[in-house]
Amino acid sequence: MIRLGVLISGAGSNLQAILDAIAAGKLDAEVVLVISSRPDAGGLKRATAAGIATVSLSRSVYNEPWAADELISDKLIEAGCDYVVLAGYMRKVHPELLDSFPDRVLNIHPALLPAFIGSEAIRQAWEYGVKVAGVTVHYVNQDYDRGAIIAQRALDILPGESLEALTMRVHHVEHQIYPEVLQLFAENRISKDTDGRVVIR
Ligand code: GRF
Repeated sequence: MIRLGVLISGAGSNLQAILDAIAAGKLDAEVVLVISSRPDAGGLKRATAAGIATVSLSRSVYNEPWAADELISDKLIEAGCDYVVLAGYMRKVHPELLDSFPDRVLNIHPALLPAFIGSEAIRQAWEYGVKVAGVTVHYVNQDYDRGAIIAQRALDILPGESLEALTMRVHHVEHQIYPEVLQLFAENRISKDTDGRVVIR
């Protein structure tokens, strides 16, 4: 069983998917702490409803982003987290956190990286007119949305599909793939080869 610390900034639907997978017995993990970069993040309510400890950070904490990450790192260590799971966390992550959890900070991004980095990925892919959208789960490093790719899932954009419809389908894929990847970590099946490529056994 792995102990997860989940970092959020918003609605927390990915957090919910992780909690649901645990409750359904599909993910051998426990979410031991949820940290939000915003006090008004909807995901905090989901965490509290599930009886999970939360930490809510105010905007001013991020005036010094490095200090904020030191604080976050301390909380995650204190809670005994094995992995740090970014789920809609809208802040950059710094060495103060990354160095405490080497190869143990993960993120989900609603596009097929390295295309469409940043917070408007689904819209940008749709506006560009790509025919295939998707989702990426990757390790986090200091470069935003640029860590080694762990898993990707593609979905064909349907003829005439609206941005809203595509957005819903992308989120649905996110909610499937993130718990699945976390289960692979729980089974200790993910590692990196000497070139830094992710290997799944
Ligand atoms: C997701 O699309 C995630 O990939 C992106 O931010 C969104 C968060 O949604 N990084 P939620 O807060 O999990 O509902």
